[in-house]
Amino acid sequence: MSESRLVVALDITDRERAIRIARSLGKNVFAIKINWPLVLAGSGSVIGDIAKISRVVCDFKIADIPNTNSIIARFARDQGAWGIISHSFTGLESLRSVVEASGDMKVFSVVAMSHPGADLINGNYERLMDISERAGVYGYIAPGNRLSDLSKIRKRTMKMIMSPGIGSQGGKAADAIKAGADLVIVGRSIYESADPLAAAEAINAEIAKAADLP
Ligand code: XMP
Repeated sequence: MSESRLVVALDITDRERAIRIARSLGKNVFAIKINWPLVLAGSGSVIGDIAKISRVVCDFKIADIPNTNSIIARFARDQGAWGIISHSFTGLESLRSVVEASGDMKVFSVVAMSHPGADLINGNYERLMDISERAGVYGYIAPGNRLSDLSKIRKRTMKMIMSPGIGSQGGKAADAIKAGADLVIVGRSIYESADPLAAAEAINAEIAKAADLP
């Protein structure tokens, strides 16, 4: 099996359920994405628990002053996270503090978003990418349900792009991959499914077909 290009967002507040789903998905995902709901419901140690099962991306959309950003990034790194998501609109110093505190942990910056009303960010993706390049990010978050934005961002970078907006927000995994995403992020369509593993396998199959993989 080729490595999965699926990142599953577990936006739930039940730690045991999150760990159960992560275990059931096993090698069928590239990573598990953890957001504030799971961390706020319990403790940040859930990052370390899930990191024993899968790569973990901490979607903390960091957007604070450099000192606070560094503390958040260091915490995620010390828990064993593989990657972290930061905003870039707070400026170079702010984003650079995340990169510096992250060490080997990969930093992905948000340069366009998937939800309605994201025009302020999406209209400034070029400036946000310039800031991100100067800060030294590993990759980008760009919307998988706004394909023209995603393609424009892909044209400006060879770095890894992760794309949310698939399923519940209307995007299709195959379309996002064809428009330039390396990885797709899917939440509700998987964790709300009666059979999360089957839902993940279906998306993996769709991606493999789109990418013309064996
Ligand atoms: P759903 O349930 O919509 O979950 O499949 C999507 C997950 O991705 C996050 N998300 C985003 N993160 N930029 C981001 O950095 C975005 O444009 C964006 N859209 C969705 C969301 O928080 C959830 O975890």
